[in-house]
Amino acid sequence: AFKPLVFSGVQPTGNLHLGNYLGAIKKFVALQEQSDCIYCVVDLHSLTAQLVHQDLGDQTRSITAAFLASGIDPKKHIVFNQSRVMQHAELAWIFNCVARIGWMYRMTQFKDKAGKDRENASLGLLAYPSLMAADILLYRATHVPVGEDQKQHLELTRDIAQKFNNDFSEKIAALGVGVEMQVGEETVNGYFPITEPVIGGPAARIMSLRDGSKKMSKSDPSDLSRINLTDDADTISKKIRKAKTDPEALPSEIDGLASRPEAENLVGIYAGLAEISKEDVLKEYGGQQFSVFKPALADLAVEKLAPIASEMRRIEGDRAYVDAVLKDGGDRARAIAEGTMKTVRDIIGL
Ligand code: ADP
Ligand code: NA
Repeated sequence: AFKPLVFSGVQPTGNLHLGNYLGAIKKFVALQEQSDCIYCVVDLHSLTAQLVHQDLGDQTRSITAAFLASGIDPKKHIVFNQSRVMQHAELAWIFNCVARIGWMYRMTQFKDKAGKDRENASLGLLAYPSLMAADILLYRATHVPVGEDQKQHLELTRDIAQKFNNDFSEKIAALGVGVEMQVGEETVNGYFPITEPVIGGPAARIMSLRDGSKKMSKSDPSDLSRINLTDDADTISKKIRKAKTDPEALPSEIDGLASRPEAENLVGIYAGLAEISKEDVLKEYGGQQFSVFKPALADLAVEKLAPIASEMRRIEGDRAYVDAVLKDGGDRARAIAEGTMKTVRDIIGL
């Protein structure tokens, strides 16, 4: 079996928000206690939707600072940015030749981001999941913590690994580089693991504070729709106070949230921040009005996020330190990545 290894990435575009934190980064921190982890600022991915950026380098440092401020230990684990390890692009090319175009056209993120003028989207936007599969499989990672929105891309990563393992099964066996693994009920053999997503908990999909039908997103034009990791205490409180809700009190049972997306979202945020279940939040606040719950949520959010924001600012100020972390992480990542690529080139016959 493969040794457990965690990989995940975050794009260096726009402000990190509470959805990124609860859906992804907070899980990164929790997983580092039990496994080896590799966390990547995926700067190459940021070119897919928009080629020219004013400050990609600063954005990369800022995400790195957020990782470190949230508690990721760059000595025990690897923190780096994607473009420093060119093997990501090399394996992505190979996966472009493994994956089928139809698989890519089916991705809802591609459909959303490409919009109506699909023929005018970058080829990179279409191939995005192939680069994501390369990010993960270059390290033969077994577990990938992400928000719910990345589920479909992870399924594609599994499909790519499976097709590669199948298409090259004879060569993999001849070279003796296959690993036996359990996938559901089946025992299969392959060079690449069939990666498990780590999705779930009360905060796997945080919604906009202004519209419970849209996910909280960096690209929402309304700043009131999201809580940024860098927001100060007053801003956090104001955004929660102004969050859209309905006039009912909170229910005491989880079923009572069923058709109340805004209420469910705020309860999920509370649960994620407090590390308890939504049921437990309702045990405490069921029957209460939002005039009581919102201030409690604001206090909790400030308590949890303000220390991260100030630590982030401190770390961002020490540019030499951030650059040193990325350089060291890049060197360590590259050593693993090149080992994988040597074998992949052998398997393919390059
Ligand atoms: P974004 O989706 O905000 O542009 P990324 O694509 O870089 O940012 O995503 C970084 C991580 O944050 C991914 O694991 C993604 O699934 C997670 N994530 C993004 N938005 C949300 C959200 N609203 N709720 C939960 N997780 C989210
Ligand atoms: Na995303």
